[in-house]
Amino acid sequence: MEKQLEELKRSFCSDLERLSKPEDLEQLRIQYLGRKGRLTSILRQMGQIDPGERPRMGSLSNALKTFMEEELSRKIEDLGRREPAGEALDVTLPGRNVRRGSIHILNQVLFELQEIFLNLGFTIVSGPEVEDDYHNFEALNIPEHHPARDMQDTFYFSRDVLLRTHTSPVQIRVMETSDLPVRIIAPGKVYRCDSDVSHSPMFHQVEGLWVEEGISFAHLKGVLYEFIHILFGPDIPLRFRPSFFPFTEPSAEVDMGCISCKGRGCRVCKNSGWLEILGCGMVDPQVYGFVGIDPEQVTGFAFGLGVERVAMLKYAIDDIRLFFDNDVRFLSQFS
Ligand code: PHE
Repeated sequence: MEKQLEELKRSFCSDLERLSKPEDLEQLRIQYLGRKGRLTSILRQMGQIDPGERPRMGSLSNALKTFMEEELSRKIEDLGRREPAGEALDVTLPGRNVRRGSIHILNQVLFELQEIFLNLGFTIVSGPEVEDDYHNFEALNIPEHHPARDMQDTFYFSRDVLLRTHTSPVQIRVMETSDLPVRIIAPGKVYRCDSDVSHSPMFHQVEGLWVEEGISFAHLKGVLYEFIHILFGPDIPLRFRPSFFPFTEPSAEVDMGCISCKGRGCRVCKNSGWLEILGCGMVDPQVYGFVGIDPEQVTGFAFGLGVERVAMLKYAIDDIRLFFDNDVRFLSQFS
């Protein structure tokens, strides 16, 4: 038996020596050390040998087993080290690039807008996107059958429940529940049944409202000048055009000088030299009636602007749908 063990060792060593592919190692291990391997079959003869010899044979074969296991793992390391350069693991290589997301361009613009108004002493509030008819229309002085309801195409859930068509209902909710004075902006999603290069069925507005004793149109102009000048640069001219909204009186639409052509006239401003940027006005006394504020005590102004519109002007984006297509080639330009 001792001879057999010696013979096994010799044969193992020469087999191991010749072996060059890592995948053959397991084969060799099974052949020598497996449950039906060559060592096992030698050990089966243990019962036939002199009982006095058994302990020595036992320890000899244990030693051989350990030897073979150690040789196998040494060979594994050896083969690993000799692998061709291309397949070897080069721990000094830089890691694979992880593609990181970034803040969406609309949120970047929104954060910038919010920052400006926070610095002007406004606080940020929000309201529900699913609104009732009362807050979206009625309390904003847009009664049933009023032609102003045709100004917007509304998504209705039922006669009374709808997706808000503007952020102005937040004005109502804030005045219903807050103590005066009120100085807020309300950013958020709004919905209108409309879709083309400059209209999306879902878009974002920022509503502004300042109600306090002695607030005048001059305050409105001051705040908007400050805002536009921080956002687009100090030399941009503004123009207040008389307009109409049922919930403000007087009302105005504000244009800023075209940033593309500096007012000379171009495709962006349709040769007018001006870009419409927001709607605004003094809160209509009718509206105070709905929220229990005495119009003899306070006055206020409100404005509403489109975040997509601001972003499109600021970054010369010509199709509103790009914001929502989620094409990384577009989005990564702003990361
Ligand atoms: N809510 C108006 C709109 O969506 C904008 C606006 C807000 C106008 C506040 C005046 C005052 O068109």
